[in-house]
Amino acid sequence: MKLGVLASGQGSNLRNLADLYFEIAAVATNKAHCGAADIARERRLPLAVFAQKDYDSLAARDSAMAGWLRGQGVELVVCAGYDRVLTAPLLEAFRGRIVNIHPSLLPAFAGGMDAVAQALTHGVKVTGCTVHLVDETVDAGPILAQAAVPVHDDDTPASLHARIQIQEHRILPEAIRLLSDRLAAARPPLR
Ligand code: GRF
Repeated sequence: MKLGVLASGQGSNLRNLADLYFEIAAVATNKAHCGAADIARERRLPLAVFAQKDYDSLAARDSAMAGWLRGQGVELVVCAGYDRVLTAPLLEAFRGRIVNIHPSLLPAFAGGMDAVAQALTHGVKVTGCTVHLVDETVDAGPILAQAAVPVHDDDTPASLHARIQIQEHRILPEAIRLLSDRLAAARPPLR
């Protein structure tokens, strides 16, 4: 199944998917200069930048992105550290075909960019990561996969995030395979 990866960060999940030979038909970012964009260039993956400053509205940006992703033949969209909330044109173009990876055990620590720091602040003993379907809610779509990660007394946000990312690199591919199989079995191909 052809993936479109949306990313704004260092891109370790994108690199992992590429290393595992997932078919990445498109990488979209809002930041021309981020780790994920560099990885796309290194790997010669089709890359496009959708910066908000180039569009009049969120919907105009997401409509352009959805059109480009569809043109690339994308069947499943993976938000892998994409730091923008998706709006109707994208959600409607890929309904039921968008997943997100979030660095907490949802529904704990939803809705922010600092889920790892929040887990430390709250003193939880276990946190983790979640892959879920993306819909109009923020971080509250149906859950596809989760992994638990213990919090150590001497953890910093960086050390805890590094341990969480080891699990992200395991469950994101698993969840993509699961959803691809479900879509292949249940729905006609996207036209
Ligand atoms: C991950 O921790 C993911 O859970 C969060 O953003 C981070 C992206 O990491 N949504 P990377 O850019 O794939 O390394």
